[in-house]
Amino acid sequence: MELDGITFGYDDQPTLKELHLRLKPGEVLGLLGRTGSGKTTLARLLLRFYDPQQGCIRLAGTDIRECKLAELRSKAALVTQNIEILQGSVRDNLTFYDDRITDEAIIGVLRELGLRGWYESLPEGLDTPLASGGGSLSAGEAQLLAFARVFLTDPGVVVLDEASSRLDPLTEHRLEQAVDKLLTNRTCIIIAHRLTTVQRADQIVIMEQGRIVEAGPRTKLASDPESRFSRMLAAGLEEVTV
Ligand SMILES: Nc1ncnc2c1ncn2[C@@H]1O[C@H](COP(=O)(O)OP(=O)(O)O)[C@@H](O)[C@H]1O
Ligand SMILES: [Mg+2]
Repeated sequence: MELDGITFGYDDQPTLKELHLRLKPGEVLGLLGRTGSGKTTLARLLLRFYDPQQGCIRLAGTDIRECKLAELRSKAALVTQNIEILQGSVRDNLTFYDDRITDEAIIGVLRELGLRGWYESLPEGLDTPLASGGGSLSAGEAQLLAFARVFLTDPGVVVLDEASSRLDPLTEHRLEQAVDKLLTNRTCIIIAHRLTTVQRADQIVIMEQGRIVEAGPRTKLASDPESRFSRMLAAGLEEVTV
C-alpha cells in the first residue's frame, strides 16, 4: 500500500496534508493521534468514500481510482465500532446479499468469534431481522459482527478503527482474539486506542492536524526516549490519543 502525497479536505480547508506512507504486504501499521487529527478521514480515502484532491493511493501498484469500486471493496475492508446495519436479516447483514456464502460458513465464523450464544438466542436464526441502527446489539457484539463480515469476505487489506470505549472483559478478550486472526496474512492499518493493539504493529504513524508528525518501526520508536511514541506509551496511550 502506497500513499503518495495525499492532500484532502472536506471543504476548502485541507484535513489531510501531503501524506506519504508505504506498507509492505502483511505489515501492520498502528495509526495514532488525537481526536480530529485525520485518522478516520485517511481510512475513508483508502476505501474511496472520498478521493484525494492531490496525490494518489496505490494497492499492489495500481491506483485505487482505476479499480472498480466493487473490486476495491472486496480487496479492502473497513471495520469500525459503528457497524452499518442494513434493513434485512442477520444473514443479509453478514453476507451483503452474496449468496455464495453458505450458512455453514456464517455459523462457523460466528462460533469462532464467540458469538455462538448470541446466534442461538436469535428467534429465527439467520433469518432474524436485524433492527436498523443495530439497537439490539451491544457495542461489543456490533464490533464482533463487523469482524464476521471481514472474515466472510476475506480481503487482503483491512483498516480497523478500534473501539475507543471500554468493553466488558469477556468481549475484550473475544475482540483481542479476533484482532489476532484479522492480522494474520493481511496488510492492516489499525487506528489504535489500546496498548495491547499497538504492540502488534510493525510500523507506527502518529498524526497531528492532518500531518504525519512521526513514523517508523515500532520497536525503534519505542526504544527512543525522545520519540512521541515512547512518551505516549509512558503516559498509557489512551490519555494522549482520546
Ligand atoms: N464528513 C465530514 N465533513 C466535514 N468535516 C469532517 C468530516 N469528517 C471529519 N471532519 C473533520 O476532519 C477533521 C479530521 O477528522 P477525523 O478524520 O474524524 O479525525 P480522527 O479520526 O483522527 O478523530 C476534523 O476536524 C473533523 O471535524
Ligand atoms: Mg476517528
